[in-house]
Amino acid sequence: MKRLKKSITIVAVALSMSLATGIVAAADCDDEDAVKTVQKKIYKKKCKKCHGKKGNGKGPGAKGMDPAPPSWVAGTDKSDADLYKIIMEGSKDTEMKGWAAGTAKKGKEVSEDDAHTLICIIRNFKK
Ligand code: HEC
Repeated sequence: MKRLKKSITIVAVALSMSLATGIVAAADCDDEDAVKTVQKKIYKKKCKKCHGKKGNGKGPGAKGMDPAPPSWVAGTDKSDADLYKIIMEGSKDTEMKGWAAGTAKKGKEVSEDDAHTLICIIRNFKK
């Protein structure tokens, strides 16, 4: 039993380490094709209804929402790591739900790579 506990701890530590490195890894925002694909396949389908086509937080689904989705048109003061965490884990007690596997509904998950590319898209909304 003790041994089992030990190996579980090792697996948990390894997992959290890979998660931590996932936060550091950034997407190549200059890869326009990759960014466009994620914009079309993920942002438009999963994010636009609240965050809006232009990232101004005025998507049709955001009507009357409190707190409302923020506008990214003037940028965001959040770091990539902050944005990544919110995309994956959501923002507590708000309509922003997490998209990580195990958090999002089955079949709706956003991969770690795509989450990083979504950060490029969010930053690109800045005028
Ligand atoms: C049902 C509406 C809804 C959907 C769909 C949604 N969001 Fe959100 N999002 C919100 C709300 C509301 C907030 C503000 C939460 C708060 O104030 O803590 C938010 C906040 C955020 C933030 C924090 C931004 C900041 O600058 O503070 C990020 C990043 C984000 N969303 C990304 C996404 C991405 C990426 C998707 C699609 C995969 C998505 N959201 C889908 C409603 C939504």
